Amino acid sequence: MAIPVRPRLLAALAPTFLGCLLVQVAPAAGTPQKAFNLTWNSINFKTILEWKPKPMDYAYNVEISSGSKWKIKCFLITDTECDLTDETVQDVHLTYQARVLSVPRNNTYLEEPPFANAPDFLPYRDTKLGKPVIQHFKQVGKELNVTVEDSPTAVRRNGTFLTLRDVFGKDLSYTLHYQKESSSRAKPANTNTNNFTIPLEQAKGYCFTVQAVIRSRKDNQQSSQSNMECSDEWDSIMGETLIIVGAVVFVVIIFFILLSVYLCKCKKGRAGQQRKENSPLRSA
Ligand SMILES: *[C@@H]1O[C@H](CO)[C@@H](O)[C@H](O)[C@H]1NC(C)=O
Ligand SMILES: *[C@@H]1O[C@H](CO)[C@@H](O)[C@H](O)[C@H]1NC(C)=O
Ligand SMILES: *[C@@H]1O[C@H](CO)[C@@H](O)[C@H](O)[C@H]1NC(C)=O
Ligand SMILES: *[C@@H]1O[C@H](CO)[C@@H](O)[C@H](O)[C@H]1NC(C)=O
Ligand SMILES: *[C@@H]1O[C@H](CO)[C@@H](O)[C@H](O)[C@H]1NC(C)=O
Repeated sequence: MAIPVRPRLLAALAPTFLGCLLVQVAPAAGTPQKAFNLTWNSINFKTILEWKPKPMDYAYNVEISSGSKWKIKCFLITDTECDLTDETVQDVHLTYQARVLSVPRNNTYLEEPPFANAPDFLPYRDTKLGKPVIQHFKQVGKELNVTVEDSPTAVRRNGTFLTLRDVFGKDLSYTLHYQKESSSRAKPANTNTNNFTIPLEQAKGYCFTVQAVIRSRKDNQQSSQSNMECSDEWDSIMGETLIIVGAVVFVVIIFFILLSVYLCKCKKGRAGQQRKENSPLRSA
């Protein structure tokens, strides 16, 4: 009884299935689809616009503007990203608009093609700070010095790339998180330059990371943390030992100098006394 029902049921459902299939397949057959999820991926002013979906048999044009005219930057691409660095570093204090147009591969269309707008992009405010690099560090006894590399950006002036410090000036600071190798609580220290001089509690090995910070920002204030570095406990202890040894040697030398001066005076004194004692005899 159930067996004859099934084919009939299938036959009845088939158009629905086909309909579903057609609805899903139809947009993939070459009609340009509107882009979505447009996101700026910008680090130290290298700026790439990304979006979705991968095009099926059509292409994308990407246009950018800083207020007046649209300028086409990526033309008939089948990628879902476009590098807009060259445009956005022209003036990092301007607000840029960008849009992604979905067009037939032959770029001929009668009506306006579907397009999507990216969020406004202001490089100075929106570019993310790259992970900092610790260039150099040195611990001697209870003093730790750390120098952070001044990373190059994608911003060019007179043919050279400006550094983060060149672009952000005093807006840019760095935070150091440091902790004794064994203990887990990290302490912060800040600098407005690229150098830290940290007075430590003990002449032991310390581990630390560095983070770039722009306090004037609301979002993307901080970079991710640099790789961790650890100062050599032995080095720092050697440093302290050397200082102590030096101090002891100094004290000992001073002691000997004082002692010899004292002994000299004693001798002279005694010699003088002897002379005084002897003089009457001589004169006599
Ligand atoms: C698009 O972005 C939204 C958030 O903006 C997210 O929830 C969604 O998963 C994204 N879609 C895709 C396909 O990645
Ligand atoms: C361009 O491509 C579209 C879709 O692929 C097609 O409908 C149209 O006829 C083409 N136009 C020309 C001029 O080739
Ligand atoms: C750390 O830097 C300061 C200032 O530049 C300098 O006087 C000091 O000798 C340095 N200390 C170490 C351990 O390098
Ligand atoms: C470099 O650029 C500045 C303006 O940013 C300009 O004043 C200066 O003359 C330029 N120097 C050279 C060597 O081109
Ligand atoms: C920072 O430290 C480096 C290396 O120790 C040194 O060359 C540089 O002059 C220092 N800069 C400042 C601003 O103190």
